[in-house]
Amino acid sequence: MKHLQELPVWRELWKHFDATKSLHMRDLFEQDPERAQRYWLEVGGLILDYSKNRITDETLVLLMQLARESGVPERIKQMFRGEKINATENRAVLHVALRNRTNAPILVDGEDVMPQVNRVLSRMGEFAHEVRSGEWLGYTNQVITDVVNIGIGGSDLGPLMMCTALKPYGHPRLKMHFVSNVDGSQLRDVLEKVHPETTLFIIASKTFTTQETLTNALTAREWFLKYADEESAVAKHFVAVSTNKKAVADFGIDTANMFEFWDWVGGRYSLWSAIGLPIMLYLGEENFIEMLNGAHLMDQHFFNAPLEQNMPVLLALIGIWYINYYGGGSHIIAPYDQHLHRLPKFIQQLDMESNGKQVTLDGQAVAHETAPIIWGETGINGQHAFFQLLHQGTHITPIDLIASLQKRSNLPGHHEILLANVFAQAEAFMRGKTPDEVRVELKEQGMDEARIEELVPHKTFSGNRPSNLILMNKINPRNMGSLIALYEHKTFVQGIIWGINSFDQWGVELGKQLAKTILSELTGETAVQPHDSSTERLIRLYRNANCDKPGTC
Ligand code: F6P
Repeated sequence: MKHLQELPVWRELWKHFDATKSLHMRDLFEQDPERAQRYWLEVGGLILDYSKNRITDETLVLLMQLARESGVPERIKQMFRGEKINATENRAVLHVALRNRTNAPILVDGEDVMPQVNRVLSRMGEFAHEVRSGEWLGYTNQVITDVVNIGIGGSDLGPLMMCTALKPYGHPRLKMHFVSNVDGSQLRDVLEKVHPETTLFIIASKTFTTQETLTNALTAREWFLKYADEESAVAKHFVAVSTNKKAVADFGIDTANMFEFWDWVGGRYSLWSAIGLPIMLYLGEENFIEMLNGAHLMDQHFFNAPLEQNMPVLLALIGIWYINYYGGGSHIIAPYDQHLHRLPKFIQQLDMESNGKQVTLDGQAVAHETAPIIWGETGINGQHAFFQLLHQGTHITPIDLIASLQKRSNLPGHHEILLANVFAQAEAFMRGKTPDEVRVELKEQGMDEARIEELVPHKTFSGNRPSNLILMNKINPRNMGSLIALYEHKTFVQGIIWGINSFDQWGVELGKQLAKTILSELTGETAVQPHDSSTERLIRLYRNANCDKPGTC
């Protein structure tokens, strides 16, 4: 395979970077009254304003060439064809099949996956209907009022983010709870709020081997059986979502109560699969399908639109421009909507677990940066916390500002303030404030010359700080589906250009392996093995602190 730095356009982009790095966006806007109109794209209910980026027409031409020379169009086709592009795990990558609303066959190893996708989807629909309508009864014949999803990572963040984002569509009787942390206080807090007779537990784990999830599931089961007494009651209160039937059965959940998915669905890409069961329970089958429709709309756009008009491709390339040329090591997700407050965390896993890689597909060390550090917070709260650094700090910090045009609450005046702020931030990042503008402003306030000159450097904003503005006409299941699919595909395109596998996650394994050894040393099951002196000291410290018979541990 050709490596990124071997591509002719890679060098051309460097030359272009040197020639354009001192351009100011403020000037670019002044020179081109059509800039906003030209750097603007609409797909379904989403609008992307990418005009406030440090790009020119030539930048875009070169970046598009980069996408072509990196084989982006061919790689996209390979994914949609069900080819095993997750080479290190020898798996296809087919989250697009989960929302393939045309039902056109997609083959994996010669077999169409659509019948199984549809089968599980309709089983989920039937189950959701029973729970929501009150037909599904607990062991004392009461309706379900609380759903507790026990899962972690991709088996938690997607459903949690969607249920939070779409709360106004939620079933009024159902309260949703999410337990991911093995720190017992999270589960205990939830168990204190719910009642065993009216609670449904979903044990969500792709592998069904994840220590945190299985530990929480076991504790929840023990808690439940203390009340229910009868093993047979478990079937009415515990369901599993997994790809691993055997492990589900070994754990003691009847596989009749299991909703399956497949190894070609990556954990962080799985909210469209049975992992989305909490979403369907909360929002109902119709809204879940709407979410799939929205994602499918973005998939179709991603597959068919020319690169120049392709929203995920544009976002990916603009991101690459900052990461690889400007040296921007982080990227911020700032939703201007309280119910989207889980979105930064979701995108953090999606992007960092996918593209936080140091070798290319052929096992060579990369010679360029890969995934940036993704972080974020609701924009309005961020403004009063870390935005100082974004405006006047020394880092390049590209930011995605995400907002809804339509109001979410009927409280008068609130939404206008929110949108005024998001538009103002984008303008401020781009324009900044020149020393002369500061002087004029301070003079108007009647300040004396000497004091003005002292303050000018502190009150100057360099501007030229990039942002993308993503507007949804409304936050609804369809647009949320499109938004998440947009970020999934953006991540994929960046991975293609960097030449890495976006769909494995070997980097999470080492810590898990070591934790197993250390756990048995902490509990005294095995003697403390040789570690580095720091780790050994820590293990002994813990053992002494938790020793029943001092001197024996
Ligand atoms: O440890 C990382 C990871 O494997 C993620 O990739 C995944 O989303 C999460 O853990 C949960 O895994 P599982 O669904 O198999 O429990």
